[in-house]
Amino acid sequence: MTIVEACESKTNTTPEFPMGWYSVARSHELLVGEVKSVQAFDRELVLYRTRTGVPVVQDAFCPHLGANLAVKGRVVAESIRCPFHGWRFGADGMCEHIPYSEEIPSRARLRTWHCEEKNGEVYMWFHRENTVPQWELPSLPELGHPDWTSPRYTEFLVPAHVQDIAENSCDPVHFQFVHKMEDVPPSEVTIDADGRTLHLHSDAEQSGVATHLHATVYNPGFAMVRNTYAPGAEMVMYNSAQPISKNQTLMRWTLTVSRAIEDLAGDDVMEGIIAGLQDDYPIWANKVHKHRPLFCKEDKSLVMFRKWVRQFYATSSDKREIA
Ligand code: FES
Ligand SMILES: [Fe+2]
Repeated sequence: MTIVEACESKTNTTPEFPMGWYSVARSHELLVGEVKSVQAFDRELVLYRTRTGVPVVQDAFCPHLGANLAVKGRVVAESIRCPFHGWRFGADGMCEHIPYSEEIPSRARLRTWHCEEKNGEVYMWFHRENTVPQWELPSLPELGHPDWTSPRYTEFLVPAHVQDIAENSCDPVHFQFVHKMEDVPPSEVTIDADGRTLHLHSDAEQSGVATHLHATVYNPGFAMVRNTYAPGAEMVMYNSAQPISKNQTLMRWTLTVSRAIEDLAGDDVMEGIIAGLQDDYPIWANKVHKHRPLFCKEDKSLVMFRKWVRQFYATSSDKREIA
């Protein structure tokens, strides 16, 4: 392989997984006592809901002889029982019971990932060092609000790194070329005082309809997009990612429109948005991750995104403070 080929390989410069909140299931997909297999962050995980309704995410491979707990593992009260020799692990990961031994080895534990349920989804906090969450899981106030329609769901398996998918939110030029807008919409990218929450404001016009687009990115793979067509006529689209591997990401989208436009344009708006997501697909499916992109003078918002995104890769060895 030549040096040039190595630089264009699909994975050689692909970053690690950024820290943040990531969805692993919709709440209604995880019943009490249910055990599921989850592929995320290049790992095999087990997701289950205990008898009192608490969702738990743990590494799937049993420390005893390596059985996969997500395949025929059983929920027993607040714990999960391995299908191979019946060892039981609690929601904190500690082995609680070995059916044929009085003694439990002190190292018998499963790595447990911090997990929370909100907005109709089950999320896990991911950090390479499995730290405690460094900020709160955002709330999505329109979900379940009487002024908004009940949510619609759509999902896409995108063959791209989660960072590259997030970069789309800061890329107004692609609105013209990929999403067929008449022009590059006037746009502004800003970052909150916390240094972490990023916003894109764009004034677009499509088929003669003026739209204000406001995207809020909480972490790569967790964003909200609000399209305002007129006062009270709005569409909100949340997306939460489950990065499966470095170049495969499951995107969960949740859409709702304000009741004021539900009958008039609700279905059309939602169908249009779902179709719009497909526009990006061939780009994501075929691009490489550019570790050092060649930017031009007007690529300011992309430059800002690349600076912003670095903080999500910080580890304990980094001196830099995480805001
Ligand atoms: S492999 Fe899990 S109990 Fe033996
Ligand atoms: Fe896009």
